[in-house]
Amino acid sequence: MTIPLVIDTDTAQDDCVALLVALLDPLADLRAITMVAGNVGFDQQVRNAFLTLNVAGRLGEVPVHTGCRRPLVRDWVSAENVHGDGVGGMSMDMAGHGPQAEHGVDALIRLAAERPGELSIVAIGPLTNLAAASVKDPDFARNVKALYVMGGSNNGHGNITAAAEFNFYVDPEAAKAVFRAGFEITVLPWDPVTLRHALFAQPALDELAALGTPISEFFTRACAATLEFNRNVGIDGSTHPDSLTAAALLHPELVTRAAGYHVDIETAGELTRGYSAMSWGIHGLTENATVIEEIDSAGFYRYLRDLLAKKTTCRLPILLPDGATIG
Ligand code: BDR
Ligand code: CA
Repeated sequence: MTIPLVIDTDTAQDDCVALLVALLDPLADLRAITMVAGNVGFDQQVRNAFLTLNVAGRLGEVPVHTGCRRPLVRDWVSAENVHGDGVGGMSMDMAGHGPQAEHGVDALIRLAAERPGELSIVAIGPLTNLAAASVKDPDFARNVKALYVMGGSNNGHGNITAAAEFNFYVDPEAAKAVFRAGFEITVLPWDPVTLRHALFAQPALDELAALGTPISEFFTRACAATLEFNRNVGIDGSTHPDSLTAAALLHPELVTRAAGYHVDIETAGELTRGYSAMSWGIHGLTENATVIEEIDSAGFYRYLRDLLAKKTTCRLPILLPDGATIG
């Protein structure tokens, strides 16, 4: 039995890897990719999604829908200082390849309504599209089977400020609305889970690069800028929260500890914009999410290694900045 899902993404670096998970894992039935404003320029994110479809050998098979091009009320904040263009300068001929006419928010609403209670969504960017969909269609949250969210920190370090993780910081009003909308939410936080269980140090990265497949080469290039940024801020390795979120939906056995929490997002704080207040059950608040606390990190690494070892055939050559190609 496959799992029907949509990935809502700000496609750069590990968002690409999360798409590879959903495109190549036989358990995944990826129905659409919806794009939200986040990591890098919006149109670059769209190109990054098509590049990923191409390297997975799935170009033309999964529709890409552009969603909200800016947060609900705030100006867009980029993470280009972290990710560069999100794919290490790789490109392809986009002629004949582009997003669908249908807006991403409408696609989310339609796909959930077509099979009420069956569609899962993996949201790995700011939650703007999910908030807009739940306002536009009062049945949306009920129609979605499971919403897996990469965002926030479980009373730990932020990454864009001391208090906040990027996805919730960029659109805190959307994140607040989503946690109040009635979804069945599972959260994969930055700290501690990403930093402890989805961090690949150099020996692991060397092993992945040595696989020698088109997707392992794509992975190494797409992750290089973020790896350098991480090292400059004291994180010794490549971080993979988005692909872990997708993998956790498909393979719940990777989740070794999770608990019910009340999650709310700070929108008014002077220093804490986007902070995720995760209350663990002793403050009299009703649970509205399951928060992942621990992952089988060796199992996750093996899972990604096996994924990147798959031999795919690019439909179009992927152009590298030095003039060479993949595929
Ligand atoms: C999150 O922010 C983005 O830069 C990553 O893609 C991930 O979704 C981590 O804070
Ligand atoms: Ca992301």
